[in-house]
Amino acid sequence: MISLSSSVRTLVKVETYKVVPPNRGAMRTREGPTVNLNELIESGHFPKKYDPSRRIPNDVVDKLLKFIYSIPTSVNAQSTHYLVASTPESRSRIADHMGEGFDFNVPKVRDASHIIVLATRETLSNEYLDELHAKEVADGKFPTEALADQWQATVRMWIDLHRYDVKDLQHWMEKQTYLALGMSLMAAEELGINASPLEGFNSRILDAELGLRQKGFTATVLLVLGYRDEADFYARTPKSRLPMDRHFTFLK
Ligand SMILES: Cc1cc2nc3c(=O)[nH]c(=O)nc-3n(C[C@H](O)[C@H](O)[C@H](O)COP(=O)(O)O)c2cc1C
Repeated sequence: MISLSSSVRTLVKVETYKVVPPNRGAMRTREGPTVNLNELIESGHFPKKYDPSRRIPNDVVDKLLKFIYSIPTSVNAQSTHYLVASTPESRSRIADHMGEGFDFNVPKVRDASHIIVLATRETLSNEYLDELHAKEVADGKFPTEALADQWQATVRMWIDLHRYDVKDLQHWMEKQTYLALGMSLMAAEELGINASPLEGFNSRILDAELGLRQKGFTATVLLVLGYRDEADFYARTPKSRLPMDRHFTFLK
């Protein structure tokens, strides 16, 4: 669950800064994609019905969560929190609090193996930004102190632009959450798991059940994970899209 106690927000002073050689990891290579893009293009529907008898193995879930933990956010704001429901009880807490008019989504939540609630911060305090910066410094993200200071100023400028000028800070953070959603959907595909995004729920009701607003968060979207049920007729229907020229313009 979310831990936001102020004791966690230990501010590391700039004096504790130490230089760490950049780029310690080896270059990434890969043999080739395992996601079958042709399949996704032609018949890649999000499941509408999940097999209640199938559970995702723990090591696969762990891999997905590690990937999700690594997902980037603009200025490294890390403004999304993930609540993972893997037991019938925890899935029921979500299923029972989807709100009126969203009954069509309840069986997906009950039958799938795991549900991840993607929750977004309601705001970003300067205290939180200081905590983020201190962690980046402690992790050796900056080769020089001058770069660390420059980055801190850039982040503050960018956040203040959204906070005070454009006044869309929460909306901007939710865009980061949607980027995480998209990347998680593809990662699930790569791991051989079926996944669906669900926007169809009442965030006021779900937030209350999960105690999100007291912690400064609100539920943005759900990620349903599991295995498609054979009876999902939707899997056998064709894709429907407006013609390509309604989607793409090739500039001259
Ligand atoms: C952000 C997002 C939220 C969605 N929320 C729901 C939902 O709450 N319930 C549902 O059944 N489908 C949901 N969908 C599925 C869409 O309705 C589906 O992607 C769309 O109909 C196109 O389907 P297709 O790619 O299978 O042709 C959602 C899709 C996205 C991208």
